[in-house]
Amino acid sequence: MAKILLLPGDYIGQEIVPQAEKVLSTVGRAFDLDLELDSALIGGAAVDAVGVPLPEETLAKARAADAILLGAVGGPAYDELPRDKRPERGLLQIRSALDLFGNLRPAIMYPQLVGASSLKPELVAGLDILIVRELTGGIYFGEPRGVRQLENGDREGFNTYVYNETEIRRIARLAFELAQKRGGRLCSVDKANVLEATVLWREVVTELAGEYPDVELEHLYVDNAAMQLVRAPKQFDVMVTGNMFGDILSDAAAMLTGSIGMLPSASLNAQGQGIYEPCHGSAPDIAGQGKANPLATILSVAMMLRYSLQCASGADAIETAVGVVLDRGLRTPDIAEEGQEPVTTEEMGAAVLDALEYQLASGRTAA
Ligand code: IPM
Ligand code: MG
Repeated sequence: MAKILLLPGDYIGQEIVPQAEKVLSTVGRAFDLDLELDSALIGGAAVDAVGVPLPEETLAKARAADAILLGAVGGPAYDELPRDKRPERGLLQIRSALDLFGNLRPAIMYPQLVGASSLKPELVAGLDILIVRELTGGIYFGEPRGVRQLENGDREGFNTYVYNETEIRRIARLAFELAQKRGGRLCSVDKANVLEATVLWREVVTELAGEYPDVELEHLYVDNAAMQLVRAPKQFDVMVTGNMFGDILSDAAAMLTGSIGMLPSASLNAQGQGIYEPCHGSAPDIAGQGKANPLATILSVAMMLRYSLQCASGADAIETAVGVVLDRGLRTPDIAEEGQEPVTTEEMGAAVLDALEYQLASGRTAA
């Protein structure tokens, strides 16, 4: 039996998670995974209901779960709240409480969407990058932090960019191991020409490289990495970087693939427990209109099956089903090109489910 916790969160989170849930249940039945699904509140939804973005009950359920599927949190209704009440805080707290230090964000170009990319087809066709982002440290969590009043009356905002070598080593190790299983190339991104914390980052990554002679390691400064991503993205295989740079570079990488609505993610701890979520936000501007693309969340279910539930065939089946609906020309507005009539969130979800069920049924017949 595996316990799965659903955390839809805010705005489009409420629309995309139900679509992904159907896909998860179908795969669960087909592969006899004996899934037990539960749900809980996080983000603005939790603030509205109980006054905090990560209620105790949610955290307790999360700790007991084998894997968590999350939608998205945040939105304009909550922008004026104090920092500890903001929806984003709930997300950061749960990542930290479960020690989910390893954030995997694969940017894969589906051949059917080459025309939807912001770059020329020849630059992105076949693109397959894995961004490994450190998720529980760096400037996101560094202390001291805050806004203080100076003696001259000026307000001053401050944050701390800090990484110790244990944190650097564990994320680098994960990235080296993933690179070994993929194309054997790792690019570590830092700002070692300016920031001491990333001088140490570069040193520790370089020391570890000795243990992975089969992985080719290079280092790039983050400004250059950003430029290379939009200049010649196919030069990258695995990229590893700290929390803030990873946040930024993964949004950029997502756009190369046509839409951030296509990018799934996995956030893992040392025990293989994980939160699976789309890289995109809660998109308040399109919420409630059936315009959200559920594919990033559905593909996050595939990552869940692969990394937490040890069901690679289920993951493959979902990824194949997504390919099938794209082949059939189904497009939500974010990935629709000129002349393509967009489908709704539900229609897209239903089409993936159809393709999946067809595949599972024919698979069984063939076996
Ligand atoms: C992400 C998001 C979050 C982050 C926000 C919502 C706190 O942008 O998962 O990339 O910055 O980590
Ligand atoms: Mg982000």
